[in-house]
Amino acid sequence: MPKLAMPKFSLSHALENAFFKNRLTQNELKILKSHCESYQDLELPDWKPSILRAYSSYFGFITALKARSAIEQCFEAGYLKKQAYDIVDIGAGTLGASLGVIDFFNAKKLEVSSLLAVDKDQQAVEWASEEFKAFLPTNFGFRKRFPSANERRPQIIVYANVLTELGLKELGFEPHRSLKLKEFFLKPLKDLHEDSLVIIIEPSTRETNTNLLKLRDWIRSRFHILLPCTHESDCPALAQKEWCHEEWSYRAPARFWAIVKYLRFRKKLLSFGFLVLGKQNNRFEKAKARVVSREIPSKGRCEKWLCSAGYRWKESKLLRHRSTANQAYYEAARGAIIDCVSTDCHRPD
Ligand SMILES: C[S@@+](CC[C@H](N)C(=O)[O-])C[C@H]1O[C@@H](n2cnc3c(N)ncnc32)[C@H](O)[C@@H]1O
Repeated sequence: MPKLAMPKFSLSHALENAFFKNRLTQNELKILKSHCESYQDLELPDWKPSILRAYSSYFGFITALKARSAIEQCFEAGYLKKQAYDIVDIGAGTLGASLGVIDFFNAKKLEVSSLLAVDKDQQAVEWASEEFKAFLPTNFGFRKRFPSANERRPQIIVYANVLTELGLKELGFEPHRSLKLKEFFLKPLKDLHEDSLVIIIEPSTRETNTNLLKLRDWIRSRFHILLPCTHESDCPALAQKEWCHEEWSYRAPARFWAIVKYLRFRKKLLSFGFLVLGKQNNRFEKAKARVVSREIPSKGRCEKWLCSAGYRWKESKLLRHRSTANQAYYEAARGAIIDCVSTDCHRPD
C-alpha cells in the first residue's frame, strides 16, 4: 500500500516572492545572525531599522507559514464560516502572522474585512505595512493596545510569539497567578463573538510548550479548546511530564534556504506549538485521536503516540496487521487525526 506523504504547508508564490524580493545584504545577514545569537527563540526584538528586512525574511516568513497552517487546520476542522472576518494581530511585529492568515483567506476566496495590527512599538508594523501593502486590506489600522474583542463581529485574533513575554517561557509558570495574562489576554477577550477564533502560536521549546499546555488547562473553563486537541479534557501530556508540538513539512524558496545555511540552522520541519480557542464547541467526535509523536522505530511494528478524550497512549500494531480498514493509522504522521474505531486503536479507557 502506498505511504501517504506528510502534508506540506506553503504560502502563495506571490507572498513568497514579496518576502524574498530582495536578497539580504551581508550586513543584514550579520545583524540577523547576531540577533539569533543574543536572543533565545523569538524574544522581543529590538526593532532597529537595520533588522526589519532580515527579521521579516527569516522569522516573519516562518511565522506566516505557521499562521497559515493554523488557520488551514481551523478551516479543515470546520471552525471557519463563510463570512467576512476582521483580523487582529497582537504583537504584530513585521505582520508575519497576519500575512499567513490573509494568504489562506485569499486562497479560499474568503473575505477579510479589516486588519488591526497591535504592537507597543510601531516601527516594525509601519515598515511591513508599506512592504506588504499589496497583500493587506484597505481597512488597515494600528493600535498600541488591543481595545478588546468585538462581541458583534467575527474576528481572527492571533497572538504569535508574544505570550512568551507574559511569562510563558518561565519555569514554574502558573497561569492563575499571572496578572499580565489577566490584563493582556483574559480581559480583552472577555466578550468574544461566537464565531471568533483566538489563535496562539509559540515556539516549540519544552518550557514554552509545557506552559502553553498549562495555559490550555487553565483557560478551558472560559473558552472552548478547538485545536490542536480533539478533546477538552485535562491535557494528558502534562500528567505524563511530556509536551506536544506540531511538526509539518513546508515549502520555502531558495533565498530562504540561503539564509538558513548562513545561520547554520537546520530547518527541515516547521515546528511550533499552537492553541485555538473560541466560543464554538470542539467539533471532533470522541473516537477521533491526534497523532502526537513521530513513528517510533520498532522492528516489525508500527508504533506512535496518540491523544484522544483525555488519554495519551502508545499504540503499537504489527506491520503484518495492516489492512485497508486500519491503513490510516499506519500512514498518519504527527498532527494527523485518525478515527480510533475504524483503525482499531485502543484508547485505554
Ligand atoms: C517576538 S515579537 C513577535 C512578532 C510577530 N508576532 C512574529 O511572530 O513575527 C513580539 C512583538 O510583540 C510586541 N509586544 C510585546 N509586548 C507587547 C504588549 N504588551 N503590547 C503590544 N505589543 C507587545 C513587541 O513589540 C514585538 O513586536
